[in-house]
Amino acid sequence: MSKQVQEIAADCRQLPERYIRQEDKEYGNVTNADVFLPAEIPVIDVSLLTSSPLELDKLKSAIINWGCFQAINHGIESSFLERVREIGKVFFQLSPDEKKKYLREEDDVDGYGNDTVVSDHQILDWTDRLYLTILPRDQQKIQFWPQNPPHFREVLDEYTCKIELIYEVVLKALARSLNLQEDCFLKQYQTTEKTSARFNYYPPCPWPEKVLGVKPHSDSSAITLLLQDKEVEGLQFLKDGRWFGVPVVPGALTINVGDQIEIMSNGIFKSPVHRVLVNSKKERMTVAVFCPVQSEGVIGPIDALITDETPRLYKNVTYTVDSYFQIYQHGGRPVDNYKI
Ligand code: OGA
Ligand code: NI
Repeated sequence: MSKQVQEIAADCRQLPERYIRQEDKEYGNVTNADVFLPAEIPVIDVSLLTSSPLELDKLKSAIINWGCFQAINHGIESSFLERVREIGKVFFQLSPDEKKKYLREEDDVDGYGNDTVVSDHQILDWTDRLYLTILPRDQQKIQFWPQNPPHFREVLDEYTCKIELIYEVVLKALARSLNLQEDCFLKQYQTTEKTSARFNYYPPCPWPEKVLGVKPHSDSSAITLLLQDKEVEGLQFLKDGRWFGVPVVPGALTINVGDQIEIMSNGIFKSPVHRVLVNSKKERMTVAVFCPVQSEGVIGPIDALITDETPRLYKNVTYTVDSYFQIYQHGGRPVDNYKI
């Protein structure tokens, strides 16, 4: 396995070729990214989603316009979010040898590591990651869960329970916002569905205009819940051909829809393209939870959304672990491959 980005950054006299972004006609270059245009992403009060039609409408238009929203009053205390950030930060501060105890195996998803290399031409993301399956519990690969800091497992377990609740509330609200039965998105999944947590660490880079923390991509999840760094921004969403930066809202989770909701909603909700810029001086750490990631079963557009005026736009799809790396490293919107 090649060097972790954190090690490269610690002794970065010259930027390794493999990280330098080429011209990107489709999504725009990194160099025009120095302006961090703030996005006016709606702030949604999750506690109101079951009782307030107004809040539900706000959610629907946030997803249609941005593909994401800033969730507040979601049931997780700010002090607990701080503990989740802390276990990640402490882990990435461990010595390289200590962290390597949790190294991902070549063709596995779980564990610590940098980009999986699937081709010689691949340009690598300026990030190290710790990727852990959190649900279902019997599929957790506990050998990859750090024993240092000592409370890592306990905190991540508790976070998992809290995230499960938010996931259900949001998926039900998305269905109701389209006048569908509230459990219709949830029902498409089997009980064996996987949910994963990814701790993303972005070391500072002296050449921030040449690299990306994460290439432009959409998530293959149903929804992704992102705990942003408390201070350092970097995430951008693409809207109408321009990149907009996501401000840090204290205590909020940034929630975006992924490819699976796009398919199930027959394209009413689009899975947004996003990317991550890195900072020249400051490190950044985020925790993304992808709910559900892989599906043993098949998902497809909800029947009630297929009409004469709105014909079916997507095939039925099975997501598998094998397709994961290929799809992810390719960047862009994998969901476009499933269009009819
Ligand atoms: C991701 C992602 C954004 C961030 O992990 O898929 O988009 O700010 N992360 O770390
Ligand atoms: Ni993403």
